[in-house]
Amino acid sequence: MDWGMQNRLAGIINPRTGRCLMLAIDHGYFQGPTSGLERPGQAVAPLLPHADALMLSRGVLRSVIDPANRTPIVLRVSGGTSVLKDDLSDEEITVSLEDAVRLNAACLATSIFVGSAHERQTLAGLSRLCDEGQRFGIPVLAVTAVGKEMARDARYLGLACRIAAELGAHVVKTYYCDDFERVVGGCPAPIVIAGGKKIEEREALRIAHRAVSSGAVGVDMGRNIFQSQWPVPMIRAVRSIVQEGRSDADAWDLFRQLTA
Ligand code: 5RP
Repeated sequence: MDWGMQNRLAGIINPRTGRCLMLAIDHGYFQGPTSGLERPGQAVAPLLPHADALMLSRGVLRSVIDPANRTPIVLRVSGGTSVLKDDLSDEEITVSLEDAVRLNAACLATSIFVGSAHERQTLAGLSRLCDEGQRFGIPVLAVTAVGKEMARDARYLGLACRIAAELGAHVVKTYYCDDFERVVGGCPAPIVIAGGKKIEEREALRIAHRAVSSGAVGVDMGRNIFQSQWPVPMIRAVRSIVQEGRSDADAWDLFRQLTA
């Protein structure tokens, strides 16, 4: 791996801890004004100091993030569908490498839809992105999107994560599931978990802890942070698990202290 690629990855996954707390606010690329992100600039400002990396689309990056920001940017570069369609898998690469470089992206993010109607198109998109990222020294994060008809179990997620890594993804984002060690064990690239739909803070902390205990390098979490009534205490509690090695019980205590 060349210097630029390694340097960008080291900005996302802390080389000292081997861990990463990525904040995801890219949901609008197919959901529009997602609850909690109606004004993304206001939502993200107090959270940014606690994130190792920020995942978002170029439109939100350009319009609300100060160019003086030092947090590495994981740029969402796929899209082309909306929640108005039943089939969300019909995505393609929507951002040129030139623009990603101009925006100083530290990493490029695309979704793959294994088992969907557009499996081939999204896997080919990932492969091309890895080739182009390689030319510029920019790593690629593959998101294993799960269609309604797919089970979020270790068999399916293990398959999708392994395919993403085999095609060249440098980091893979997936969902936590039972038997998660099997998913991590079968994937040669580092794994971060999405938080998924908003759930109780206590439960989200438990899942974050189980994921890193099972070998994930961290989280790429969105709704369970920015949709919380207490987003800053929540990101700090998640951070204490991911970067400080605290238990979920300790993180919950921290959350309660911060919200008291
Ligand atoms: C959508 C994404 C989102 O970034 C993702 O789902 C992460 O956020 P959340 O924790 O809200 O699930 O990649 O495809």
